[in-house]
Amino acid sequence: MIKLTHIEQTYGEMRILQDVSFEAKTGELIALVGPSGSGKSTLLQLLGLLQSPSDGMIQFDGRPVVDSSDEGRRRMRLEEIGFIFQESHLVPFLTAAEQLELVAEEAGRTIDAAAQLDVFGLRDRRNHLPHALSGGERQRVAIARALVNDPRLVLADEPTASLDYENAQLVMQLLQQQAHEHGKTVLVITHDERMLTYCDRILRMEDGRVLE
Ligand SMILES: Nc1ncnc2c1ncn2[C@@H]1O[C@H](COP(=O)(O)OP(=O)(O)O)[C@@H](O)[C@H]1O
Ligand SMILES: [Mg+2]
Repeated sequence: MIKLTHIEQTYGEMRILQDVSFEAKTGELIALVGPSGSGKSTLLQLLGLLQSPSDGMIQFDGRPVVDSSDEGRRRMRLEEIGFIFQESHLVPFLTAAEQLELVAEEAGRTIDAAAQLDVFGLRDRRNHLPHALSGGERQRVAIARALVNDPRLVLADEPTASLDYENAQLVMQLLQQQAHEHGKTVLVITHDERMLTYCDRILRMEDGRVLE
């Protein structure tokens, strides 16, 4: 589904990513691990079309995305990519259901937010504001929100880092389910070795290089 070829990222004199090449298939849950500063988040931002690489090619289903227009990339980001971060980044004054509806509206869709929250065990939390939810519940709302537009690619940057073990496992189970049962391609950055058992493949990064 995704193919990266000879990706380079430099900021001035600093080389952040060097000759990164790999492929990710539909339905795969891939872990991205490596020391702090090795380039994991930068790589995820490139995959999420949030920035363009200094050099190299990114393809979705064989189509190069680097050359697309800003508007083309924006639509692709909105329709095909879901993001999850360490903190849930929910809007403080919107209920769980409204968080999902906001994203749907932006994409011109109407959704059944209660039904979508139900998938994540949150139906009875749909009218709660973020401050009335636990950390684990907030992160599950963030996952539900990332999936509102039924993206094919899900990118998660340390989604379990601020959760206890039990909630971290639940998040990994949900991501695995999205990959294996719903055919999403999921890339997840993690520092927790215990989370790797959920993943089909591990990409190890060191000094801006991917050592599979
Ligand atoms: N926008 C930027 N400008 C300059 N340097 C950056 C920028 N973003 C990240 N870096 C540098 O790139 C390196 C890799 O960062 P990052 O991708 O966040 O690593 P990781 O997520 O593996 O901890 C770090 O040395 C960081 O300081
Ligand atoms: Mg990072």
